[in-house]
Amino acid sequence: MAYETIIVETRDHVGLIRLNRPEALNALNAQLVEELGEALARFDADDAIGAIVLTGSEKAFAAGADIKEMQGKSFVEAFREDFITRNWEAAARTRKPVIAAVAGYALGGGCELAMMCDFILCADNAKFGQPEINLGVMPGAGGTQRLTRFVGKSKAMEMNLTGRFMDAAEAERSGLVSRVVPADSLVDEALATAAKIAEKSLLAVMATKEAVNRAYETTLSEGVRFERRMFHALFATEDQKEGMEAFIDKRQPQFKDR
Ligand code: HXC
Repeated sequence: MAYETIIVETRDHVGLIRLNRPEALNALNAQLVEELGEALARFDADDAIGAIVLTGSEKAFAAGADIKEMQGKSFVEAFREDFITRNWEAAARTRKPVIAAVAGYALGGGCELAMMCDFILCADNAKFGQPEINLGVMPGAGGTQRLTRFVGKSKAMEMNLTGRFMDAAEAERSGLVSRVVPADSLVDEALATAAKIAEKSLLAVMATKEAVNRAYETTLSEGVRFERRMFHALFATEDQKEGMEAFIDKRQPQFKDR
């Protein structure tokens, strides 16, 4: 598949997607969102892939939705096209883990895209923000919802109302990112983390991802019940037998995802 706005590679059992509109700091236009959804779905369906890394450039993960594409739209067009969000939840729908590796700007839709991934690793030069308020609008793909769940009401409200950016240290302090790494090792670090996940039992990985995501959608008791059911279900897999046998035999497990 030939893409124009993203670069897609495979590194062993890891899928790597780079957003690639350098002339617009990776601003997310309809074509990019479409291509990204397609690439994620392909990796999700590819048995050889165990985890996915989504990244941008050293200057920008993505500076938001493409303002030049959005500017002339009417309400009727935006609503009828379900403008830019029609394909948007692709990252959230992916069943294999997706790691966002963020360097530089992750603004507006760029910040929202990173937050839809399973976790965010960021470079020390990362800047997160929801500056839509400066354009006379507001976030349209989760900025008021996911950011609030990540960092709490006070910070989310301030960022959404003022448009101020958060740097990497503040993002780590407030739980938006899992780790900060030097900019020049960001992609290698994300690939190594993804490779570590890809070595595990894919079934256990997918079940774990689904269970953690349940924490955001349900009550504690229902979430814990869901977790227990998934935990019990994994005893039906060969990977559970292999994982526990390998521990007892003091060797590395060879998972087969069955
Ligand atoms: C279209 C963009 C863009 C964007 C940057 N560019 N962001 N084009 N949409 N979101 C373009 C610029 O027009 C410019 O093109 C080139 O990229 C380089 O940008 P500069 O502004 O010259 O770079 P710099 O001075 O370094 O400033 C970087 C920046 C600034 C702080 C990130 O570009 C900026 O504020 N961008 C907009 C951020 C934003 O408001 N994002 C939210 C968008 S709304 P030319 O042709 O001039 O060289 C949104 C809604 C989401 O995301 C809704 C749901 C998906």
